[in-house]
Amino acid sequence: MKPKFIYPFLLLGLFLFSFMNFKPQENNPPVVKIISPQNNSTFDSNVPVTYKIAVSDKEDGDSKFDELNAKEVLLEVRRITKSKPASNKVVPSDPGLTVIMTSNCINCHNFNSKSIGPSLYEINKRYPVTKANTDTLIKRIREGSSGLWGGKEKMPTHHELTVVEIKNAVQWILKNAADPNVSYYTGLEGFFRISSANKGAYILTASYTDHGLKDVPGKRLRATDAVTIQSK
Ligand code: HEC
Repeated sequence: MKPKFIYPFLLLGLFLFSFMNFKPQENNPPVVKIISPQNNSTFDSNVPVTYKIAVSDKEDGDSKFDELNAKEVLLEVRRITKSKPASNKVVPSDPGLTVIMTSNCINCHNFNSKSIGPSLYEINKRYPVTKANTDTLIKRIREGSSGLWGGKEKMPTHHELTVVEIKNAVQWILKNAADPNVSYYTGLEGFFRISSANKGAYILTASYTDHGLKDVPGKRLRATDAVTIQSK
């Protein structure tokens, strides 16, 4: 072999060598903890149940130091018929709910009460699940909308999201945002009440989906913590 033929192989060798030494940076999962209420605690109906959640994530920061967007922390209060053991596992979330929690929607929309925009509950009540409504809402979220809910505020365009992501979000809102057995709250602390008509067992699930490395959506990780409470 002539010496000059060696150069391409040397280059290839160098390339393979550097590739072998390249360890991709890993996204670390967040840690979510419900500090209160305590698991298996009992509350009288109609009295405020206060909750407090702590979240830390190596990349995004720690809720203790206000480093996270607290509104991206979700508490799901779900009525259960039989008490199930609370699970602390990282479970896959609904893709539409993930879009709602990790893009900017929750800066303007609450689940149950009016914010800058209408509540997701009110949107669910206004639009039955039909293909026409789904398509209309996808278009309005994508292109922005104003004047339909009686306020002066406008919804901005969302060209940073794909049509599929927006569709998933719309489908989640139309199917789940008015489920009578679940209430959703955002933020690290707050309170809710369970009316005497709805007393029984509830599972509280706190969750946070991180922003991955450089916000690569496919690399996002979600963590949850859950406790069961009784209202009597
Ligand atoms: C900067 C604030 C803001 C953000 C961010 C925002 N919205 Fe809105 N949204 C609004 C306002 C205000 C309205 C009511 C507009 C109107 O009156 O027509 C609205 C209306 C809506 C509607 C009802 C539209 C209709 O045709 O009735 C849906 C559905 C909706 N938003 C979903 C979303 C989703 C999903 C996201 C996140 C991807 C999002 N919004 C982000 C402010 C916002």
